[in-house]
Amino acid sequence: MGKVLITRAFPFAALKRLEAEHEVDLWDDNAPPPRDVLLERAANADALLTIITEKVDAELFDAAPSVKAVANLAVGTDNIDLEEAAKRGIAVGNTPGVLTDATADIAFALLLNLARRVSEGERQVRDGEWAPWYPTHMIGGDTAGMTLGIVGWGRIGQAMARRGEGFGMNVIHSSRSSGVPLEELLEEADYVSLHTPLTAETRHLMGAAEFKRMKPGAYLINTARGGVVDQVALREALSSGEIAGAGLDVTVPEPLPPDDPLLSAPNLLVVPHVGSATIRTRSRMADMAVDNLLAALAGRPMPHPAS
Ligand code: GLV
Ligand code: GLV
Repeated sequence: MGKVLITRAFPFAALKRLEAEHEVDLWDDNAPPPRDVLLERAANADALLTIITEKVDAELFDAAPSVKAVANLAVGTDNIDLEEAAKRGIAVGNTPGVLTDATADIAFALLLNLARRVSEGERQVRDGEWAPWYPTHMIGGDTAGMTLGIVGWGRIGQAMARRGEGFGMNVIHSSRSSGVPLEELLEEADYVSLHTPLTAETRHLMGAAEFKRMKPGAYLINTARGGVVDQVALREALSSGEIAGAGLDVTVPEPLPPDDPLLSAPNLLVVPHVGSATIRTRSRMADMAVDNLLAALAGRPMPHPAS
């Protein structure tokens, strides 16, 4: 029997399976534990079930010397110092695959909403600004026949491609190992959708030079990680009309404060990091995280190790 610290309210069936075999210390709140509380509660844990808001680093490992496994409730592991974990022989797991369609759905929802100005139209109606029909009212972008450029060709990027194809779009992609060079994709795409993990190489992958390369009428969609985009450059590109709009599910920081300068940019649509937020997906993610912990605490390899 080991001791597992779960760092957030966890109302999923998987919790029972974990409790049947181990002692669970649950931080039963939707808000994250303050850092000092996290360090203190982790001190005698054998394993951690973490959320992307927790920085899992040398400081935390030092404070929690018995920890031998970390199961992240996410596919992304940029909140975890993987090198440091490997050095200490700590197993790290994630939740790939189960959130692929849900995340691609949010990316496509942002694309359609931006192109057809859905949120903007809803605001008009509620604000009493719905004018009688006229030929140029709320005109926006097409999908059919337009080019969707996908940056990153993992599961989620490919699921986004299938959605684009279903809508009659011409899909191109750019990744480290296949597709066209990023420069070419930026010059050709009417919609650029980001699906890379956040790493040292992808940090600020989209900066001033990249926005300049995009077509003036093009849109950016980011459901990957906020850090992949240079937000100062994005704000300038939107304000100057260099690109037509941007739809973001991820930002730096999260939550984005209402007075963040980015929010003053025109044609910007932001939703609060809800890519994997479907009932079934979150429950499957919980299952995978618990499977990872049960295996690691039994001395077996995790079924879903973060590579
Ligand atoms: C959420 O952003 C995830 O990485 O699963
Ligand atoms: C994540 O699931 C990816 O490979 O895109």
